Amino acid sequence: MGEVETIGLEQVESLAITTLVDNLTDILLLDEGPATRPPVDARAPRVTAPMLEGGMTIDALRAEHGFAALVEVARGGRRHRILFDTGISPDGLVENMRRLELSPHDIEVIVLSHGHFDHTTGMDGLTRALGRPNLPVLIHPEFWSRRRLALPGREPIVLPSTSRSALEGAGFEIVERAQPSFLLDGSLLVTGEVDRTSEFERGFAVHQAHGDGGWHPDPLILDDQALVAHVAGKGLVVLTACGHAGVVNTVRYARRLTGERRVHAIVGGFHLNGPLFEPIIGPTCDALAELDPDYLVPTHCTGWRAIHALAARFPDAYLQASVGTRFEFRGS
Ligand SMILES: [Fe+2]
Repeated sequence: MGEVETIGLEQVESLAITTLVDNLTDILLLDEGPATRPPVDARAPRVTAPMLEGGMTIDALRAEHGFAALVEVARGGRRHRILFDTGISPDGLVENMRRLELSPHDIEVIVLSHGHFDHTTGMDGLTRALGRPNLPVLIHPEFWSRRRLALPGREPIVLPSTSRSALEGAGFEIVERAQPSFLLDGSLLVTGEVDRTSEFERGFAVHQAHGDGGWHPDPLILDDQALVAHVAGKGLVVLTACGHAGVVNTVRYARRLTGERRVHAIVGGFHLNGPLFEPIIGPTCDALAELDPDYLVPTHCTGWRAIHALAARFPDAYLQASVGTRFEFRGS
């Protein structure tokens, strides 16, 4: 991408991110700073359990490999809700929303971070929950690519991709855009295609896309996009989903686009798992130290080793993720 003009992102009074689908769950975590954990006491939803004394237990949230978050933006006394991704199972998202007493009918806009099925499959359950939804769905044009993972010594694994006709047929209004977009009168920025500037975030080496009659390398996954808000007096909050663009690239791009230097929080999947990505955990930590976020919430595909490295390197900023946690970042 060429020159990037600075664009005016309005400051918001608060931004709350509730993870609706995530790889992790831990019902013993306590509230901590901006993190409020889902209730496991008398306020929690109940489900029948005939093998237990009393015949009931809490209807606990389910974790799955995937990501979805409800984003609530407060500005000018009004609150708006955006859904960012939908998880890997057809019903995991809506089932966790039911357990959290969050209504799918309150969602005003859907942003899908990229085309991978661990972020999109919950559109199915959402469609059934909403009836005929009349909601905009923001995606990058390469969202529709057919993809596979070609691991050395193994048969390639084809990744399910979203059916355009099914999504359109369900009633969603699809908005394709590679450039940055604003939502809610300039309160929220969808990055579109992220400028790749770091020297170590080189993408997913074994990832391929189908086109021109065959499979070809597609390490960059250009459809990967993030959400950005500017919390008044605090700085940027950047929400990544799978972080295929690179978390450092994404945060640097958010700073370039908005002209705001302060980074208040980075939340989401940083994609640093496994032998292909673990070598860049160190450089990523070094670059994040320069960005100096107040809060760091690595989740979903970040990977066990990277999460531990980040927790050790940023003990004051690190917050543990767990599905159903609400992270509320308030302005000053
Ligand atoms: Fe993912």
